Amino acid sequence: MDYRRFLGSRTGALLAALTAAIVLMAAPAAVHGAGRTETHADSRLEIFSWWTAGGEAEGLAAMFELFAEKHPSVQLINAAVAGGAGTNAKTVLDTRMRGGNPPDSFQVHAGHELIDAWVVSGKMEPITFIFRDNGWLNAFPKDLIEIISYKGEIYSVPVNIHRSNVLWYNKKIFSEAGLPPPTSFDQLVKVCDALAARGVTPIALGDNGIWASMHLLENVLLATMGPSRYKGLWTGATPWDGGELRTALSRFATLLRYVNTDHATLSWDGAAQYVIDGKCAMTVMGDWAEGYFKAKGLSPNKEFGWVPFPGTKGTFMMLSDSFGLPRGAPDRDAAVKWLTVAASREGQDAFNPKKGSIPSRTDCDRTLYDAYLQSAMDSFRTDTIVPSVTHGAAAAEGWVTRIQDVVAGFVCDLDVEKAASKLVSAARGYTR
Ligand code: GAL
Repeated sequence: MDYRRFLGSRTGALLAALTAAIVLMAAPAAVHGAGRTETHADSRLEIFSWWTAGGEAEGLAAMFELFAEKHPSVQLINAAVAGGAGTNAKTVLDTRMRGGNPPDSFQVHAGHELIDAWVVSGKMEPITFIFRDNGWLNAFPKDLIEIISYKGEIYSVPVNIHRSNVLWYNKKIFSEAGLPPPTSFDQLVKVCDALAARGVTPIALGDNGIWASMHLLENVLLATMGPSRYKGLWTGATPWDGGELRTALSRFATLLRYVNTDHATLSWDGAAQYVIDGKCAMTVMGDWAEGYFKAKGLSPNKEFGWVPFPGTKGTFMMLSDSFGLPRGAPDRDAAVKWLTVAASREGQDAFNPKKGSIPSRTDCDRTLYDAYLQSAMDSFRTDTIVPSVTHGAAAAEGWVTRIQDVVAGFVCDLDVEKAASKLVSAARGYTR
């Protein structure tokens, strides 16, 4: 398998955080005590993430349960900070890391987000030994290992692979309207018009953290430019000032006319819920939406269907969630145990079917995964792989923030020329 299709080169503060809620979701006793008699904890383990929504919370809980079975004397503390894509969590993490108060292990996207923000600055411990000691150096795709490595050492455990170029749709609405799921941009617009004429809001968007709009834009960019030119945006091979950027922005503006009017106050999972409830017909979201649908009792191909975002068939826009070991982790031994469970086949097979992602290991048990996830596994094997920029894989965090700011303005004024020139200047300094 050729995994060198993955990512761009490693070129390379967030929106002001809203109130960040530290959520102690699973009471430590409930987690570590499942079916056990231990009443005291030998050590503790604080795991930091932003997984609090349906699907992602269940995936994390499944991994916690497995950890608790294996290490019943460790008190697990779920320090998840609510807010999709880490909008709030990243700010809290930044403050904690700067203040010398790291959690024992934290969620971080593989690629630029991990390396540029934390590894290069010397904030992380190398964890190659976990892979080597367990004989797992070859259990992960070579190119995935590459983007979590720096100067020959591995710095995180990738727990999954997510696909970000997916359009999810309500099957009942589509069948009642006699509409096929769209496969090209023009078809998407036709379908939107047909749905709007029936009084259904075509696209659910929940961009209260603005990233969901950027997520939509990265999909439109990919559909408009194709995989190799899209990928080139992040390496400097594709100039930002070409006509394709303006075409993509105009298309993005077109789609924004079909979204729910309350999108700015809605979260990504709120948007997914609109599709479940039939308030909207489609949503463009990573496959954590699949985890959400399933957590709400829906089944793939039954209540909901999916297609690659129209115009992106044959391309898999990827990102990977990973966990690392910060220097000065207060409970280092427990953190190493956590990372070992997260990297194990058992850990990945417990987590991913619920999370709505495919395992990052290449040797997991396919039969545990549903029809959607099996289709994602197949696409991951055969498609062209490109990195998601919204979710930390394609570009440095500073650049991502600048793009996100441009998107925030664009969603309000739909000014293509203004956004294009701001995106061109945002790219300066990050592309060579
Ligand atoms: C992404 C993350 C996913 C999912 C999503 C929504 O950035 O990689 O695992 O959690 O945010 O919160």
